[in-house]
Amino acid sequence: MLDKFIIAANWKMNGTPAEARSFAAELDEFIREVQPQSEIVVCPPYILLNEMHGSFKKGGQNCHHETSGAFTGEISAKMLKNAACEYVILGHSERREMGESSELIAKKAQAAKAAGVKVIFCIGEKEGEDFESVISEQLNFAVDVDVIAYEPVWAIGTGKTPSLEEINSRHKFIKDKCGLQVMYGGSANPDNAKDISALQNVGGLLVGGASLSISSFTSIIEAK
Ligand code: PGA
Repeated sequence: MLDKFIIAANWKMNGTPAEARSFAAELDEFIREVQPQSEIVVCPPYILLNEMHGSFKKGGQNCHHETSGAFTGEISAKMLKNAACEYVILGHSERREMGESSELIAKKAQAAKAAGVKVIFCIGEKEGEDFESVISEQLNFAVDVDVIAYEPVWAIGTGKTPSLEEINSRHKFIKDKCGLQVMYGGSANPDNAKDISALQNVGGLLVGGASLSISSFTSIIEAK
């Protein structure tokens, strides 16, 4: 269990070196000035990790389950650690959609733990799926993880979110099942961040689209 509310930026496959450098400089200045209580984490594409320095934590968006070897195009948890990543996002629905199984994600989590990288483990049901059964099944594989990110797949990048009551009760269901802190993800933005982050069972926000602009990301941090 982590003790702070976490606000993490998931840049996905976006950003240039120049954008990464100016975002990091502005975020660093903002954090020094505002001193937010939350843990701020930025997860850019791998090749931008070394462009971003400041008073925030860094994370990878994925890692391989082996430590090294003939795995073209892959990156290990140890490499993330060497690139100053404290976190890694695993099991994002966009990767599950590409064929990552729960078993594979669990192996990645084990590798991340062995490398000393904290795991943000993503779970979420698709539109029309039964929340409780999908989440219970996915949570069976949440071993070696530090924090859960609950992201209803239908809310990612769509501007749609569950109601506040639903978010709170779903987070409680997940927390009761695994005992871990649970972040919310799926169209979090400066307009809804205050209400969502005030919910009793919400322990953080995983922000995609709205984390690409420094002004909207810092508004989200300020809203908490
Ligand atoms: P979104 O993405 O904020 O753009 O909906 C969230 C995520 O996929 O982590």
